[in-house]
Amino acid sequence: MEKRQQWDSRMIFIFAAIGSAAGLGNAWRFPYMAASNGGGAFLIPYFIALITAGIPLLILEFGIGHKFQAGAPTAFSKVKKGWEGLGWWSIGVSFVIVTYYAVIMAWVFDYLWYSLSLAWGDAPADFFLNNVLKLSEGPGHLGGFSIPVLIGLILAWLAVYWTIRDGVKSVGKVVKWTVPLPIIMLGILVIRGLTLPGAIDGINYYLNPDFSKLLDPKVWASAYGQVFFSLSVAFGVMIAYASYLPKKSDITNNAFITAFANCGISFMAGFAVFGTMGYMAAEKGASVAEVAGTGGIGLAFWVYPEAIRLLPFGSVVFALVFYIMLLTLGIDSFFSLVEGVVAGVSDKWGFGKKKTTIGVILVGFVISLIYATKGGLHWLDIVDRYVNNYGIIGVALFETIAIGWIYKSRKLREYVNPISEVHLGGWYDVLIKFIAPLALAGILVWNIVQEIIDVTQGNAYGGYPVWAIAVGGWLVAIVLIVGSIILGKSKSSYVMEEASEEVE
Ligand code: PFF
Repeated sequence: MEKRQQWDSRMIFIFAAIGSAAGLGNAWRFPYMAASNGGGAFLIPYFIALITAGIPLLILEFGIGHKFQAGAPTAFSKVKKGWEGLGWWSIGVSFVIVTYYAVIMAWVFDYLWYSLSLAWGDAPADFFLNNVLKLSEGPGHLGGFSIPVLIGLILAWLAVYWTIRDGVKSVGKVVKWTVPLPIIMLGILVIRGLTLPGAIDGINYYLNPDFSKLLDPKVWASAYGQVFFSLSVAFGVMIAYASYLPKKSDITNNAFITAFANCGISFMAGFAVFGTMGYMAAEKGASVAEVAGTGGIGLAFWVYPEAIRLLPFGSVVFALVFYIMLLTLGIDSFFSLVEGVVAGVSDKWGFGKKKTTIGVILVGFVISLIYATKGGLHWLDIVDRYVNNYGIIGVALFETIAIGWIYKSRKLREYVNPISEVHLGGWYDVLIKFIAPLALAGILVWNIVQEIIDVTQGNAYGGYPVWAIAVGGWLVAIVLIVGSIILGKSKSSYVMEEASEEVE
């Protein structure tokens, strides 16, 4: 068995964890989430979600990754025999996400190139959908590859291979750059955004509090969903990352630092995005709501490019700053997902890390080709929605049960407290055993009920045909769950048995 690798320093570990957490979710998801779910008032459910579920689960994942020195499946099998499947489920979710995250990174690579000539001209939406994606009319029409996306995709996977080829050693070298750089770039964009005329209207749109929204369960579900996606918990990634920590290392404070840095980046991104939106609205004589769109890929690939085009000077420079920021923000989230899968697979079967890395990347690349077709965006949209609404929340719920009730959160506290700077008290048990699972179960049930209502009323998500939702949503979910159970029951390799003797 290869000796388990270790991070070079605590700082590198924290950088890698922040790198995973801070990604596209911070730049294009959070600002819109806040704006559309109560503005400044959204910060209340957001912080409650962070404190009651996000941080406790991050501590949980750091804790068991560190204790069992293994990726998610092997770690959960040691929590309790028969629970290995939960680890596979989280890894399955990661694998599904990584195949489309790769394509989004591919677009970012393409846009770095387009930035040099501001190739989108004065019709950025049309350019993105028709020239770059060559988007087909619906999920039933794949219609061959979009060549620019295919080229970007190859670059994105090569970048990931290059970053993780030597495991945490090479990751450490990369995160030293890719974590601070996007923060600096974001700082530049915040200053640029806030100093544009009209910025204040954008910020008002972003943060003007609407407390009545707090009565809407959808707002709470969004807050919890955003916290999980944003912190990268329930993906097996943080378990894998913590498994590369040396025996004596802090757990709790590292989790707090990661979480607060991540939220700070999200909050900051809102100022950059909405300051600029305020300016664009003023330039066009429209309202912020009209110009801002709905976030997500629209923001990054047509709304923001439009704003860049309207800047009084330095459009090419700001375009480059923006896409370098997205690239460096996203790339460490991307490779963390791959690393989580690699750790799970190599710990279970004892394959060498390097071979496993190449294998996972090749399979990931082949599957990601679906999203590089002309119909790819439709599938990306469907898969993203279902994996996020059900997969992640489901994994998180079972994690709280596995640790809170079966392993016992008290035991986890007794493990992390002696090595950590911040000590967990009995309140931690209350959060992991009661509050977090209740909130998660509530959201899951609420999502399922909404889904049934929508489908039976003929309002399937995004107006897609029900068969496409059935394939990209429900079928993927079933395959993930059944596959995880089977993998969880499959023969364990020698690595596991050997390792389990070492840990006690
Ligand atoms: N946290 C990342 C973001 O906010 O963009 C996305 C992500 C990365 C989720 C890695 C999960 C993960 F394991």
